[in-house]
Amino acid sequence: MKMGSSKPQIFFYFALIHLVIPTAAQNNCGNTVYAIALCSGDASPSECRSCINESRYDLLQGCPNQKEAIRWAWLKKCLIRYSYKSIFNTLAPDPKSGSYRVDSALDVEGFYNALRPLLDSLRNRAATGNSTHKFALQSGPAPDNQTIYSLLQCTPDLSERDCNTCLLSVQAFTSECCGEKQGGIFLAPSCVIRYETYPFYNPSAESPPPPPPSPPPELRTSTPGMH
Ligand SMILES: *[C@@H]1O[C@H](CO)[C@@H](O)[C@H](O)[C@H]1NC(C)=O
Ligand SMILES: *[C@@H]1O[C@H](CO)[C@@H](O)[C@H](O)[C@H]1NC(C)=O
Ligand SMILES: *[C@@H]1O[C@H](CO)[C@@H](O)[C@H](O)[C@H]1NC(C)=O
Repeated sequence: MKMGSSKPQIFFYFALIHLVIPTAAQNNCGNTVYAIALCSGDASPSECRSCINESRYDLLQGCPNQKEAIRWAWLKKCLIRYSYKSIFNTLAPDPKSGSYRVDSALDVEGFYNALRPLLDSLRNRAATGNSTHKFALQSGPAPDNQTIYSLLQCTPDLSERDCNTCLLSVQAFTSECCGEKQGGIFLAPSCVIRYETYPFYNPSAESPPPPPPSPPPELRTSTPGMH
């Protein structure tokens, strides 16, 4: 599925929401709420809409009186957060949360040696995304005939540098908490890393390998008997 190809769609994938609440309805901690909603770059518009709708209810029910709160629903492909202070264009690598597979890799060191360069290259691709899209996914080979599928994403209001910093920080967290695990979802307010040894996204969303260099046209047309 092609993502971010139209403006209304982009709104659902990523929205910065700035509400001014009437002061009468507020206690004395200010009258502005800032909120960010982010859907996974591979979510369909309907997955995104229903994830944000459900998370909004969960967030308001779970945290009715908080000045700031976050709801990570990455299995359903979104996160939403709000705060009384501005959170736009602001790096937030903490707090972090992780959920991981119970199974450890058979060859822990080999798995890590395959995972690390994949995450490094995806981090670079995600960070260099544009202002509506800081997202990358790809798979790569791992020991024991396994394949690692991985997805990295920042809220696209971050600068390239802040996105890179956030993802590096979550990457460090993954190896501290769950280095020997075969997969998991690792979250910060500003960025997300997921990797698994099964395709948790539609593999057709991966960017195709670069096309092989085509032979110069002169050679083709000058070769007799080719048609
Ligand atoms: C939004 O979520 C609420 C509560 O879960 C549900 O009742 C409602 O039907 C949902 N609306 C849409 C448009 O999905
Ligand atoms: C941002 O990048 C995405 C993916 O490469 C692309 O689809 C989208 O059109 C770009 N948006 C802008 C505003 O350049
Ligand atoms: C990996 O694949 C190769 C070739 O298909 C096979 O010979 C080998 O037994 C496989 N190894 C494992 C651990 O499954």
